[in-house]
Amino acid sequence: MSSEVKSFPAWHSRWTFILAATGSAVGLGNIWKFPYIAGENGGGAFVLVYLACILLLGIPVMVAEVMLGRSGRQSPINAMRSLTSAAGLHGFWNGIGWLGVVAGLLILSYYSVIAGWALAYIPEIATGRLQGESVQGVQELFNGLLQNPRRLVFWHSVFMLMTVGVVTVGVTRGLGVAVRVLMPLLFVLLVILLIFSYRQGDFARGFYFLFSPNFSALSLRGVLEALGHSFFTLSLGMGAIMAYGAYMPADASIGKTVLVVGFFDTLVALMAGMAIFPIVFAHGGIDPAAGPELLFISLPVAFGAMPGGILIGGLFFILVTIAAWSSAISLIEPGVAWLIETRGFNRFTANLLLGGMAWVLGLGTVLSFNEWDQYKFAGMTFFEGVDFLTSRIMLPLTGLFIAVFVGWILAPAVSKKELNGGHSRAWSFWYWVLRYICPPAITVVLVVGLYDSFV
Ligand code: TRP
Repeated sequence: MSSEVKSFPAWHSRWTFILAATGSAVGLGNIWKFPYIAGENGGGAFVLVYLACILLLGIPVMVAEVMLGRSGRQSPINAMRSLTSAAGLHGFWNGIGWLGVVAGLLILSYYSVIAGWALAYIPEIATGRLQGESVQGVQELFNGLLQNPRRLVFWHSVFMLMTVGVVTVGVTRGLGVAVRVLMPLLFVLLVILLIFSYRQGDFARGFYFLFSPNFSALSLRGVLEALGHSFFTLSLGMGAIMAYGAYMPADASIGKTVLVVGFFDTLVALMAGMAIFPIVFAHGGIDPAAGPELLFISLPVAFGAMPGGILIGGLFFILVTIAAWSSAISLIEPGVAWLIETRGFNRFTANLLLGGMAWVLGLGTVLSFNEWDQYKFAGMTFFEGVDFLTSRIMLPLTGLFIAVFVGWILAPAVSKKELNGGHSRAWSFWYWVLRYICPPAITVVLVVGLYDSFV
């Protein structure tokens, strides 16, 4: 090991990286966002395109990001800076790091508000308020929450403090334990929910909805949404995974590790979808295209109807909060690491500054669901606008930059060395996809999807 590597604390094993990366990847994107955008886009065809995006674009870009992080061993912005200047390149490429930090803050701003909804549900369920509630009853309760900006701001603040708190302690120490114990528990709860859905819900219809492709329901805008979400759900395009890659032991296989993370992430999303839609179809009053409220209406109805629902439902929203927590940490960490490395901030102030900015921006999302719901720009509320700007523009754009940078600009020797690709076919295949599939595919989907969104 070189001295440069030694001076940077590497995690002890590949599994620590897998857990941290899964902790980042598995979050609201899988449990809240995937089901509702699949619902809005008519189900099956969207899911198929999403899976294709994960395999052909998400996984190769993720390998590239982890690789960049590990060979740079610094915060993402500085890693990019040293790699680009070592390659004698223009400072333009450092922009990737910048775009990432800004995207992270913007995403965190609404992420925290939605995680706040999950927090607010914990006491509601634990006190039995939702037991035996009808769809209408749950809907009323949810609307009551949305119409109350103070309550929303309160839970948003609690979540932001949780995030800033853990990041202040430091990532290597702060993260591991929670993720190791709680992620498997979340998985078990999803299995329980699936069994409930199978027995009490309209499982066949839910399955058909999610997996039988009906391409007439999918617009070009929807294809861009699938692409953007495949980056979002894998935590790509903003340096989060790059930052974690910096802690990865030098001898671990990046390719295999990334495949494991991608597999778990996709599995959790599909399980959440299969838990939710059978319940949606078994109850007349829930619209599969309901949007962001889908999770918060459908599952509580199920918890209210199942034996032990208070316990299982309460635990479920606790675990959703924790999954969101370990993701939120990775949204803020790249920016924090950069402020510390280059601006001489200490961890505490860096966190406070970035967390504070995200908190203020989050107020816009809070108000999008009540007082500002009439104010729209290009047909979008503030929340929808921030989501659009990040998921559908910034993440694909940084993904594109990374593919072009690693595929066309960085000397192949660098990735060959990091990925042990001396004679390997896997490396050649990955490199080929990154060069010839990712850039054109992302560009086309981005351009056509944006055109379809606005024209
Ligand atoms: N992947 C997380 C989720 O699905 C969200 C997330 C965490 C993220 N870190 C990120 C998204 C970095 C984009 C970039 O909930």
